[in-house]
Amino acid sequence: MSAKTRLKVFVSVVAVCLMTMCLVAYDKRFLPAMPKFTRVVDLQTFKNPPPQHYLNISNTSTIHFDAYSKSAENGIRNHLRKLRQMFKHFEPLYQTKGVNCRAIFRRNQEEIEKAKTIAASPSRQTSVRDFWYVQATKNCTRFKESRGYITLSLGEEEDNFPIAYSLVVYKDMEMVERLLRAIYRPQNYYCLHVDASSKPAFFRAASALAECFPNVHLTKKRMDVHWGEFTVLKPELICMHELWRFRKWKYYINLTGQEFPLKTNLEIVRILKAYNGANDVQGTLKNANRERWRNTLPPHGLQPYKGSVHVAVNRDFVQHIIKDPKTQDLLKWTRKTEIPDETLFATMNHNPQLGIKGSYNGDKIETKPTFTRFKNWWERRPCAWMSVRDICILTVGDLPLLFEARHMFANKFYMWHDKVVIECLEEKNFNRTRAGVFGRNQLINTTFYANVEFVKHQVT
Ligand SMILES: *[C@@H]1O[C@H](CO)[C@@H](O)[C@H](O)[C@H]1NC(C)=O
Ligand SMILES: *[C@@H]1O[C@H](CO)[C@@H](O)[C@H](O)[C@H]1NC(C)=O
Ligand SMILES: *[C@@H]1O[C@H](CO)[C@@H](O)[C@H](O)[C@H]1NC(C)=O
Ligand SMILES: *[C@@H]1O[C@H](CO)[C@@H](O)[C@H](O)[C@H]1NC(C)=O
Ligand SMILES: *[C@@H]1O[C@H](CO)[C@@H](O)[C@H](O)[C@H]1NC(C)=O
Ligand SMILES: *[C@@H]1O[C@H](CO)[C@@H](O)[C@H](O)[C@H]1NC(C)=O
Repeated sequence: MSAKTRLKVFVSVVAVCLMTMCLVAYDKRFLPAMPKFTRVVDLQTFKNPPPQHYLNISNTSTIHFDAYSKSAENGIRNHLRKLRQMFKHFEPLYQTKGVNCRAIFRRNQEEIEKAKTIAASPSRQTSVRDFWYVQATKNCTRFKESRGYITLSLGEEEDNFPIAYSLVVYKDMEMVERLLRAIYRPQNYYCLHVDASSKPAFFRAASALAECFPNVHLTKKRMDVHWGEFTVLKPELICMHELWRFRKWKYYINLTGQEFPLKTNLEIVRILKAYNGANDVQGTLKNANRERWRNTLPPHGLQPYKGSVHVAVNRDFVQHIIKDPKTQDLLKWTRKTEIPDETLFATMNHNPQLGIKGSYNGDKIETKPTFTRFKNWWERRPCAWMSVRDICILTVGDLPLLFEARHMFANKFYMWHDKVVIECLEEKNFNRTRAGVFGRNQLINTTFYANVEFVKHQVT
């Protein structure tokens, strides 16, 4: 090697080293402020098994202690004490800093403008890195405590009505984790499908997160999901099979990583109970894109429908997908059509001859409402920020609408653009969860849900 070449090599090595150092320094500077690992809750309180006897969530003042033995009474008192402690310790995690969410929900314009500025500040726009979750979940107990996961039983009513969720996710770990935290309860079941083309770091973070919870299942099979193809349907089917083996859940709800609940678990349970077994699946013939199935007729004389991809369905519905021969034929048929995911569920739910419990047998298919998702199509209501493919990306300016919505979940959010909208929803859900436990608020009035069209006209 000549002296000149050696010098060249030396200079390149030095340059690469300098660049790496700069990158590392840059990285450090922009690392987001993470929640501090403070010891929030006495660990013992989390290790104890759930109580044998339940307190009465719907109306705590109606607990009849005399109906129980002395030890059961103590059990209830103890559990109530633990719950008080938990809510007290978690409170700071859920209260939005620098923003008055309550005023925003009441349409206070000044507060909305202030919140917009805060949402746009760099500290609120940096996302937590995937790798952070891998690190933080090394000690699951500490992770759950410091992030404010509800791992205690909140009462009989919720415990007896488990919900199965599928979460089909691709990116944005922070949003996925906050969504899981919001819907997490020990009695529910979660199936997490990570796209086969997601970044390895994202997959590692998702696996690490799932590892911390006995009831969060990561699918082994992973699909490379492409919009409009059968691959969109496949993760759902994988999750249904995965979740089917758990016998207790009452309803199946599917979510993507860009959605967030507008109701607490107890409120969702109440709404689903009011459904009285009905499936909440939208469908239309009038606005169907018939060309999608133009060249092929569905089996068994079924009428195809087009529908929204957001559903809340009962066990019988899922059982049909897994086991019923006619439904299997229908499923096979959708492979030959375009955008099969928009056809399968809607067709199943609007052909009562399939005999699926809770499917719709009325004649108002085109106008019957649906409450699985709040989705703001641009032409319907004003959108505070902007629309992507005609759907409003929800931001703080939309909070008053979200507050009034009757829907269980909202679609869709870009956390990298606006975290405050999520924080305010977290705060509201936390407050309402707490109020639900201590019986301090007027909980959701479900008369409305019990009387909607698809509940009144369902296959039984
Ligand atoms: C709650 O309990 C109190 C006292 O037992 C009773 O007066 C009240 O009507 C109950 N409220 C509901 C909503 O059940
Ligand atoms: C809980 O409250 C409901 C109505 O408020 C009542 O019917 C039920 O018996 C109560 N359960 C217990 C265990 O006290
Ligand atoms: C939630 O409760 C806290 C008090 O614990 C209150 O300051 C805050 O305004 C409440 N937020 C909402 C959205 O109701
Ligand atoms: C996990 O964290 C908890 C609480 O911070 C701590 O008490 C416990 O010792 C940790 N466990 C391990 C294995 O480090
Ligand atoms: C829900 O499941 C249906 C049916 O498998 C699927 O077409 C749809 O894409 C899913 N929706 C979401 C939001 O994942
Ligand atoms: C619940 O709402 C219905 C109308 O949707 C109303 O008639 C009923 O009085 C409400 N119940 C309570 C307890 O507020």
